[in-house]
Amino acid sequence: MDRDEHYMSLAIQMARETVGQTSPNPSVAALVVKDNQVVGMGVHVKAGEPHAEVHALAMAGEKAEGADIYVTLEPCSHYGKTPPCAKAVIDAGIKRAVVASHDPNPKVAGRGIEWMRSAGLEVVENVLAEEADELNRTFFHYIQHKEPYVRLKMAMSLDGKIATAAGESKWITGEAARLDGHTYRHQSDAILVGVNTVLADDPSLTTRIEGGGRHPIRVVLDSQLRTPPSAKIIQNEETPTWIFVGQKVEADKKEAFSQYPHVSIIEQPYDRIEASDVLTYLGEQNVTTLLIEGGGTVADAFVRAGKVHEVITYMAPKLIGGEGALTPVSGKGIAHLADVDAYQVVSTDKVGEDVKIVSIKKG
Ligand SMILES: NC(=O)c1ccc[n+]([C@@H]2O[C@H](COP(=O)([O-])OP(=O)(O)OC[C@H]3O[C@@H](n4cnc5c(N)ncnc54)[C@H](OP(=O)(O)O)[C@@H]3O)[C@@H](O)[C@H]2O)c1
Repeated sequence: MDRDEHYMSLAIQMARETVGQTSPNPSVAALVVKDNQVVGMGVHVKAGEPHAEVHALAMAGEKAEGADIYVTLEPCSHYGKTPPCAKAVIDAGIKRAVVASHDPNPKVAGRGIEWMRSAGLEVVENVLAEEADELNRTFFHYIQHKEPYVRLKMAMSLDGKIATAAGESKWITGEAARLDGHTYRHQSDAILVGVNTVLADDPSLTTRIEGGGRHPIRVVLDSQLRTPPSAKIIQNEETPTWIFVGQKVEADKKEAFSQYPHVSIIEQPYDRIEASDVLTYLGEQNVTTLLIEGGGTVADAFVRAGKVHEVITYMAPKLIGGEGALTPVSGKGIAHLADVDAYQVVSTDKVGEDVKIVSIKKG
């Protein structure tokens, strides 16, 4: 690993710690290095707060003059909630900028790099770019498609069952896998389930990880508004609950939820709820990442719409069997193999007694 990779690797490690907390912004870190000493470091901790470069340059102060800066993402070049970072880098007297990822945001897209170069800085691009791109995979998707990046989480037995034929499902995977699953809630802006899951399991859909965590917005697809006001997602006020309903739900049924300020009933102009319309709406509300946690019918709707970008599979070393036992994706399914989306396995790990497989949609 050369010197540039060494410092960039450190910056990437810092940025990785903020994944999930900067939405709808990317995770970014910066280091200011002079004479082989780190003189400034910064991360972007939250949307609306200063960018990583601003923190790092402030810490470096006058030492930034003639120094190198390492940034995991190309510095921004537009006036948003904060002034452009490319300008701050130039004004601080930095002589060399090392950049990992390019920003696909059309407001930036190479302009930050051009700006620094035209001001006479030496700019080195693509240092550990693949690693840095990986950090912001969900942000890049959102910026390009204006819709959330969708993860489907499934927990099943070796023979692909999520419950026994008698309906028992607690628990198929072990505690370590369930805890690991909660880190995806922490990293997601929203979590989605179908109304049957609410009725069957009465989940709270909050994040429970050691040391606390961020709760995603809870989204339920429920065309007839069958969710009872007594459900945990209604009684628990820790995070908003958005229920998508069809157009035929009676007014008094909706009225029953008006006493819960964290609950929103989102009416669709037809009887059935379309997965793609839900994603458009969520994108408009700055939801950049969505975690689908079931059940099989809802999962199938997103699979058939071609909108599942990543699959997190936990597989317990158990055989359950039973023709009627539920599988993670049910519904109509896809009739022709030619229409099935291809995924690439990016990691396989052992989590406790179980196996975790992460697969990403190709193309
Ligand atoms: N082991 C696990 O990891 C796990 C996780 C989650 C759930 N589960 C289990 O899964 C079971 C529930 O699964 P499920 O397949 O029966 O139901 P589901 O996916 O939870 O809910 C399906 C229902 O959602 C509503 N819906 C609204 N819009 C939809 C759309 N565009 N596409 C699909 N559904 C839409 C429909 O009801 P309306 O027509 O009334 O709108 C539909 O019947 C439960 O037994 C639960 O315990 C297991």
